[in-house]
Amino acid sequence: MNIVILTGAGISAESGLGTFRDADGLWTKYALEDVATPEGFARDPALVLDFYNKRRRNCLDAAPNAAHMALTKLQAATGALIVTQNVDDLHERAGSKDVIHMHGELLKQLCHNCGDVRAATAVIEPETPCPACQRPALRPDVVWFGEMPYHMERIWEALANADLFVSIGTSGAVYPAAGFAQDARRRGADTLELNLEPSEGARDFTSAIYGPATDIVPAWVDSVLKG
Ligand code: OAD
Repeated sequence: MNIVILTGAGISAESGLGTFRDADGLWTKYALEDVATPEGFARDPALVLDFYNKRRRNCLDAAPNAAHMALTKLQAATGALIVTQNVDDLHERAGSKDVIHMHGELLKQLCHNCGDVRAATAVIEPETPCPACQRPALRPDVVWFGEMPYHMERIWEALANADLFVSIGTSGAVYPAAGFAQDARRRGADTLELNLEPSEGARDFTSAIYGPATDIVPAWVDSVLKG
């Protein structure tokens, strides 16, 4: 069975990393336009870099939880593909392989002068020089609103061949990821939502299990592996 998994901030919530749109989510504390758009970065690079420096620190202080671990077990047994909107590295630290980061990675830096991408230094400041071209032109290698998500061709191809598409801990508010369930379903896949509560895209799923990710993901993985 070809399984494609999509994860969002909800899978890392119980590791202590904040979600975006829940009651105390990041987008209730920061204006998305200020910290997650190329225009916001052009207006105030120090503010944007500081936002991601703090998130990088939080990410390094966090540990993968039982939901990340369960997906590693599922992947090892079935070859499931894991696509994530998350910029943290908790899937990798749980042992998952070849994770597709469609919104980029907090622990990588991108030079917007020469395009060099490499592991991020702990703190990026407006004057931090790029190790490749020496220009102070670094940003986190994350995808902002108005930019093209990464690896889309590979993702659409995987969705076209999926027997089961599973969406975990995402609100279904941001395209293109919000369209994956509908696309997979149109191509004949079963679609399953695992979330704390019905998401905005709940109608696109043929079945759903609701509860905290650390409970429902391990239980669902066990049920799949028992067959
Ligand atoms: P959101 O914050 O929009 O949604 C988080 C989802 O996780 C909600 O549907 C919650 O119900 C669910 N949730 C919260 N706690 C949970 C738990 N313990 N167990 C299971 N589910 C839980 O986050 P995303 O959908 O990931 O993009 O957001 C998508 C994109 O919007 C992000 O990648 C980011 C953001 O703006 C960019 O920055 C480009």
